[in-house]
Amino acid sequence: MKRVRVIGTGSYLPEKILTNSDLEKMVDTSDEWIVARTGIERRRIAADNENTSDLATKAAQRALEMAGVSADEIDVIVLGTITGDYPWPATACVVQHNIGATNAYAYDISAACSGFVYALSNAVDYLQAGRGQKALVIGSEVLSRVIDWTDRNTCVLFGDGAGAVVLDLQDGDSGVLSSHLHSDGSYLELLYQPGFSTRHMATPEAIAAKTNTLKMQGNEVFKVAVRSLTDVSKEALAANQLTSEDVKLFIPHQANRRILEATAKRLKLTDEQCFINVQDYGNTSGATIPIAMDEANRQGLLQEGDLVLMAAFGGGFTWGSSLLRW
Ligand code: UT7
Repeated sequence: MKRVRVIGTGSYLPEKILTNSDLEKMVDTSDEWIVARTGIERRRIAADNENTSDLATKAAQRALEMAGVSADEIDVIVLGTITGDYPWPATACVVQHNIGATNAYAYDISAACSGFVYALSNAVDYLQAGRGQKALVIGSEVLSRVIDWTDRNTCVLFGDGAGAVVLDLQDGDSGVLSSHLHSDGSYLELLYQPGFSTRHMATPEAIAAKTNTLKMQGNEVFKVAVRSLTDVSKEALAANQLTSEDVKLFIPHQANRRILEATAKRLKLTDEQCFINVQDYGNTSGATIPIAMDEANRQGLLQEGDLVLMAAFGGGFTWGSSLLRW
């Protein structure tokens, strides 16, 4: 049987570090509050001349290098982002040009923090259908440009970064075992960016109201996030007749340490089974899972045959899981 394997991972984090004590000077907050409520200690911020495509390009090049694959071998590029360089065309097309993936077609997926899991599922389906051999899947965000830096409820949570994986269709039992995706648009206004868009154009009033910044009702999001991440993880394990004990590494979307710990507890996963790096990068939306996967991989935590469970939750609402035999 043929399965889609991850043969290379890469990530890129901008150089600038914004610490909790830096934020204390910007809004009415404290390192103590941020660490206690979120687990976040610092996050990265893109330089003025760095865009989502630049971060994505560097992450992609690192993943290609690890895989030993040249860009022109890639058949499809799928990029999960909600902070693309342009409203259109797709940031994936910018990346395709930057890396020289001349034989690939490229498109973006807008699924907020679930963007990578959605993109992975798309690429796997394409390869599994026999329509290509290799894919590049990326999550990349410059959220710092859509944050209201005067709103303490949101500005302490997010950061910038990118992660990427190279996929290859191979014989054998290892590779992506299943993906489960869900959406519920009735929750849209609990977590979204209203503009600027065709619904909310950049009028003087909309600019004054900061319509182009992220809006969130955090505690409402929190409850649904824990429930959804738990359910979609259980769904993945049950579909493959596996249990939590079989999981080598759980790589969840890194939104908030409390969300991750509550989810892990419900899934009966131990600390050793959970990969958490939210303390270093905050919530980088669609980029958290591929960044975490690259770190885990480079730390030698992923060995052939290991079962890896990914689960994400974000604006839409969207949520999803992917189960992978490394
Ligand atoms: O990828 C998915 C995207 N989003 C998320 O995952 C976010 C999910 N939600 C969360 O992570 C949490 O709800 C937050 C971290 C955003 C907030 O934690 P919370 O325990 O739900 O706090 P809260 O919103 O209920 O607020 C508690 C208090 C409020 O003050 P009062 O009304 O009790 O006086 C807030 O005004 O904490 C206050 N507060 C802050 N205080 C200091 C909110 N933000 C801050 C802050 N510093 N940065």
